Amino acid sequence: MDTNLPGLNTSSNAQAKLEQYRPHLRITELGKVASIGDGIVWVEGLPSAAMDEIILFENGGEAQVFHLGKDRIGAILLNQRDSLIAGASAQLTGRRLDIGVGNEFLGRVIDPLGNPLDGLPVPTFSRRRSLEVSSPPIPSREFVARPLISGVKMIDTMIPIGKGQRQLIIGDAGTGKSSLALDTIIAQKGRDVLCVYVLISQKRSSVVATIETLRQAGVLDITCVVVAEATTTPGLKFLAPFAGCTLAEEWMWSGRDVLVVYDDLTTHARAYRELSLLLRRPPGREAYPGDIFYLHSRLLERSTALASKFGGGSMTALPIVETEQGEIAAYIPTNLISITDGQIYLDTGLYARGFLPAIDITRSVSRIGGKAQVPAIKTEAGRMKLDYLQFLELEVFTRFGARLEAGVEAKIKRGRLLRELLKQDRLSPLTPEQHMAWLIAFNDSKFDPQTQPLATLQKLLSRVSKQNMAMTATREAWLHLIEQDLQEAQHEPAS
Ligand SMILES: Nc1ncnc2c1ncn2[C@@H]1O[C@H](COP(=O)(O)OP(=O)(O)O)[C@@H](O)[C@H]1O
Ligand SMILES: [Mg+2]
Repeated sequence: MDTNLPGLNTSSNAQAKLEQYRPHLRITELGKVASIGDGIVWVEGLPSAAMDEIILFENGGEAQVFHLGKDRIGAILLNQRDSLIAGASAQLTGRRLDIGVGNEFLGRVIDPLGNPLDGLPVPTFSRRRSLEVSSPPIPSREFVARPLISGVKMIDTMIPIGKGQRQLIIGDAGTGKSSLALDTIIAQKGRDVLCVYVLISQKRSSVVATIETLRQAGVLDITCVVVAEATTTPGLKFLAPFAGCTLAEEWMWSGRDVLVVYDDLTTHARAYRELSLLLRRPPGREAYPGDIFYLHSRLLERSTALASKFGGGSMTALPIVETEQGEIAAYIPTNLISITDGQIYLDTGLYARGFLPAIDITRSVSRIGGKAQVPAIKTEAGRMKLDYLQFLELEVFTRFGARLEAGVEAKIKRGRLLRELLKQDRLSPLTPEQHMAWLIAFNDSKFDPQTQPLATLQKLLSRVSKQNMAMTATREAWLHLIEQDLQEAQHEPAS
């Protein structure tokens, strides 16, 4: 009987190995650059290349294998160097793409390979992570059960988001999608949530404006901004969301709550289409390559809430998708709607009429966030939402100029008041306590007799923010506080 541990060499099997040993040549393939351009490179003579493997060129440049052809391979150039020309030698590294991760990246602006774009030194990270990993297995996951406060009245009350949820922000250009995402990041201040903001294919001016907004709101030091500018190669644009996800993943697995924004996946899909067409993959629907759905689901599946056994961290994702003329049935939007746990729909009509944020409540949904909503807010918001939806239905009748019953008239009046109250400027997130206060005040018709309900709302919110009322306090206690606040607010000059 062989009692040896496996792998332990006894003298007899060492002997056997020796007898079998034959010296042989080690062959390394030496490839050659066939052509180069548009951020991609074609290489000949590397027949054993694997998908996603890193190729190293003689000038030190690197590329990631993206397409395996019969006699040549196509790869995405990772660093642009002018010295790389056709004929240069290339070899396989056996490595996959990875980037540095960790707290050193907080407050930093980087490109998708982790290189700093903010003029500061390279972060001194101690850990690296692979850009492409499989999503957490089901047994390591937990149901989404804790709220992620966005600070936006309409979202936190009617389309609540939970930690670990994937909520799509969808709408035409210029309807306030990025603003909503920024607001949500700003609302994380002091809430022990780290943020990653991925900006794909945006102009430098808007990138700079976004970073400045984060800095001024005091949340840049809890955020890492990953940027693939409009002028960069399609390869880097394609990698950007995966880089952001990888950074977020490191924090999630170390037990932190993370919020990651992909702004936006429409341009990401376009970059992928461009890459695929350049590398001669067959185009599918709307000329996108067939695996675009798989690409985005792979990305978004990596966001989840981990079970406490695995540290209890979470990654909430807010992917953004841009539609054209409100067309949500286009290929990329329908894909993303089906991959995510709900969507926030922004409407140009509402935007044009000045109802900001321009969220169309009838077309927005949060499939799992309700379970994570703060219970007291959930109860109050339920009543308010019912009033609002009823009003939106009834309001249609007023268009025909028909005479309405007094009861209907009253409901419409109250609905119009509610719509005013739901308006919110950008960069002014509310706390859960403030949500609670305005909801109870509205449900108890405290705004109805007011001549200037919006000014009253502002006064109430600013008072509540200083009063430290517990969310768990009884409704009577809340109502008492609100009545007192409103009473005092009457004598206060408008701010
Ligand atoms: N709640 C809001 N209140 C006032 N202005 C807003 C609000 N939300 C967005 N905006 C303005 O609308 C414009 C478009 O917003 P943006 O977030 O850039 O849209 P998108 O990302 O959908 O293209 C910006 O000028 C922004 O300042
Ligand atoms: Mg935008």
